[in-house]
Amino acid sequence: MNATIAVRRGERADRDFVRDLGRRSATSSVSAVREARYDDVLEAFERLADFVYGRRHELLIAERDGARAGFLLLLYDIPDEVTMAPQAFIAYMAVEPTASRRGVGRALLETAEAHAHAAGLPHVSLMVTEENVPARALYEGAGYVTERLMLTKPL
Ligand SMILES: CC(C)(COP(=O)(O)OP(=O)(O)OC[C@H]1O[C@@H](n2cnc3c(N)ncnc32)[C@H](O)[C@@H]1OP(=O)(O)O)[C@@H](O)C(=O)NCCC(=O)NCCS
Repeated sequence: MNATIAVRRGERADRDFVRDLGRRSATSSVSAVREARYDDVLEAFERLADFVYGRRHELLIAERDGARAGFLLLLYDIPDEVTMAPQAFIAYMAVEPTASRRGVGRALLETAEAHAHAAGLPHVSLMVTEENVPARALYEGAGYVTERLMLTKPL
């Protein structure tokens, strides 16, 4: 029988889950051109989560057969830096490796888009690392297009 996936608004009590899964998945966002210390990547995730919690945001929690299987952090007050147009911004999302490729990520993304649309926001944006094949496939399959490129050069 297919498992049931449900997405709900997160609460303060979900933050330990977010911290744990976020720390376990954070290295997926390290690009091949950066040397990164593992501890710094973990700290960067925690700083990102704290930044989100301090802004107008929404935490979405996905449950698979009643067990937490993923989360998405959505920011509501980060306008596009070029046009200042309002937008929702996906700060981070992650799915438990044991639940991957079962539609949990897609369900989180669709819910985030529905909430952003209901809030009157005309776009939803995010940043993704070049080599992050699963995430890029998820976003591109859902209709996201590349708007700008972030370039870097090792010195
Ligand atoms: C990216 C991530 C959230 C995807 O979550 P998921 O629940 O496994 O994704 P879904 O099952 O909803 O997949 C939806 C679609 O995304 C694509 N996709 C997901 N994982 C993929 C993979 N490993 N390889 C290729 N395509 C993939 C597929 O098109 C898939 O549709 P399909 O299964 O019908 O072919 C998950 O891999 C993850 O948590 N990664 C680590 C954290 C991370 O990188 N977060 C994104 C930061 S920008």
